[in-house]
Amino acid sequence: MRKRIHKILVTGGAGFIGSEFVRQASKARWGRVIVVDKLTYAGDLKRLDEVRKKHDFHKIDICDEKRMDAVFKKERPQVVVNFAAETHVDRSILDAKAFLRTNIMGTQVLLDKARKYGVERFVHISTDETFGDIKKGKFSEDSPLKPNSPYAASKAAADLIIKSYMRTYAFPAVIVRPSNNYGPWQFPEKLIPVIINHALRDKKVPVYAEGLNVREWLYVSDCARAVMFLLREAKAGQIYNLGSGHHEKNIDVVKQILTILRKPFTLIEFVDDRPGHDWRYALDSSKVRNLGWRPEVSFSRGLEMTVAWNIANRKWLMDKGRK
Ligand SMILES: NC(=O)c1ccc[n+]([C@@H]2O[C@H](COP(=O)([O-])OP(=O)(O)OC[C@H]3O[C@@H](n4cnc5c(N)ncnc54)[C@H](O)[C@@H]3O)[C@@H](O)[C@H]2O)c1
Repeated sequence: MRKRIHKILVTGGAGFIGSEFVRQASKARWGRVIVVDKLTYAGDLKRLDEVRKKHDFHKIDICDEKRMDAVFKKERPQVVVNFAAETHVDRSILDAKAFLRTNIMGTQVLLDKARKYGVERFVHISTDETFGDIKKGKFSEDSPLKPNSPYAASKAAADLIIKSYMRTYAFPAVIVRPSNNYGPWQFPEKLIPVIINHALRDKKVPVYAEGLNVREWLYVSDCARAVMFLLREAKAGQIYNLGSGHHEKNIDVVKQILTILRKPFTLIEFVDDRPGHDWRYALDSSKVRNLGWRPEVSFSRGLEMTVAWNIANRKWLMDKGRK
């Protein structure tokens, strides 16, 4: 979208990646940023403290049609970026209901409001997990969707609904599929902050199976910067994989964190594997790279910054880690 962006509505803007996007978008002075977030256990307005005066906040569930209609009517956003989701795979295995509700029905509410109020661009944040896992090679944007967890299935369902709107209504959406993110403000239920939280307390660090599952790690500021970039550069109707190209086995991530913290590897405790655990994710991100985006933060630097942030914000980490 080459036009000046004057108003963005960001859902899930109080979450881990959404808040980084809001911080970047507020500083870019593109115009007003409107944040909609239900503030579930995963949402926290503290993440937006440093840009408090630069955005408007609405505490709304995206599934609430009436309230979403009112906010679209009042704000008339030009662009919508949808980060709102239930995001933790383990929680989806215990109970899928909230995942299907927010990730599928919530997306449908947003799509219908965006259509009704003439939104010019709808950027949907999907995930590499929609593809399922891959032993060798990489997923391209055209790889079949074969999700394995209820979380991934709910995200894949949303992608298919969006694709149907693109085709049926020429709806101006873009789907972005990032790989595993890490960085400041990540809720300590996800691998990297869980390890830091446990290690800082000298508690055993739980690792699924033998820790050999592989993930592609993307630093959160690189992810948010890519979404900002795609808002301007992407063509409507397109899908973009978004990975750093840096792959690590979980056990190697754990060892690197323990080394940074100068904690012994004896803290590592192998626990029963997650049911249906995806073995390996890897994305071919040449499409977004060909447009000119590149990650800026190496994994070793990103991990050091993440550990340093968590030490500096130990109280936040430990408060959240108790929930
Ligand atoms: N974290 C990752 O590694 C990763 C990787 C790929 C894709 N993604 C996707 O990126 C997006 C953001 O992920 P995250 O890690 O920042 O998630 P998060 O769990 O940290 O934040 C999600 C936010 O959405 C809000 N939310 C949840 N349900 C809502 C509802 N019904 N209405 C309004 N707000 C609601 C929460 O309050 C929270 O602020 C998600 O769509 C996720 O699927 C995440």
